[in-house]
Amino acid sequence: MFSVNLKGKVALVTGAGRGIGKAIAQGFADCGARVAVNDIDSTSATLTTGILSGEANAYVADVRDSAAVEKMIDKVVADFGRLDILVNNAGVEPRASILEMSDADWHDAVSTNLDAAFYTSRSAGRIMRVRGEGAIINISSIAGHNIPIAMRSGYVASKAGLIGFTKECAREFAAYGIRVNAVCPGVIETEMTTHLRHNEAQMKKWLEDIPQGRLGIPEDVVGLVLFLSSDASRYLTGQAINIDGGKVML
Ligand SMILES: NC(=O)c1ccc[n+]([C@@H]2O[C@H](COP(=O)([O-])OP(=O)(O)OC[C@H]3O[C@@H](n4cnc5c(N)ncnc54)[C@H](O)[C@@H]3O)[C@@H](O)[C@H]2O)c1
Repeated sequence: MFSVNLKGKVALVTGAGRGIGKAIAQGFADCGARVAVNDIDSTSATLTTGILSGEANAYVADVRDSAAVEKMIDKVVADFGRLDILVNNAGVEPRASILEMSDADWHDAVSTNLDAAFYTSRSAGRIMRVRGEGAIINISSIAGHNIPIAMRSGYVASKAGLIGFTKECAREFAAYGIRVNAVCPGVIETEMTTHLRHNEAQMKKWLEDIPQGRLGIPEDVVGLVLFLSSDASRYLTGQAINIDGGKVML
């Protein structure tokens, strides 16, 4: 596994109770960072915290709730004394055609996948600005690069919006020494993609389009996030990088 030295750093990962977020939290801990594990689900947040090698705390909060996010970030700083890295990973993927999608599902996608990144970046940015350094990584998707996926309008729109927000945030926060980038995974084997992996016809089609010939696993995403969190990427900001076995080549 790719490794960087993050000793002394504090990283907050949203939606880290399972899947990609959990693997990212593990990656940070293995590199020496202290980790703030957020999830809306308290059981999974506690379980992730329990398996990390170093110091880690669970923070149960709904990232769609601006006040809850501000309170959580204040608590992280009160507990750890600083915040160096923020990973906006929590996400949802409601599936329905545009004609059938409810307002609630649309708003759930937009508020979880996009609004939350604004809330966390605003709170974390105010803290990082004081030290004059920081890294924010937004987990978007190849779907955010204008790659429509049937039945996912709220998801595709919010992930594209997240790439736009990443660039705007990078431009504004550069003055404070804070770098902001997006990571855009292809299909990764997590609970979010169970439905796809159980559909033989769809799987065959996806695999035909992936030059590396396999789906990703959560650990495949971790190295890029660690790189973007560390000084190894100090001249890199405002980018949205695909990590998808070569499926989408821009
Ligand atoms: N799995 C994929 O193929 C894939 C591909 C591209 C992008 N992504 C993105 O990666 C991120 C992680 O996806 P995953 O596959 O690990 O998903 P997952 O469904 O396995 O995990 C998502 C986690 O986020 C948490 N969460 C959901 N809503 C929340 C909220 N309001 N507040 C706090 N926590 C919340 C869930 O409880 C869960 O632990 C998402 O943003 C997703 O869109 C995933």
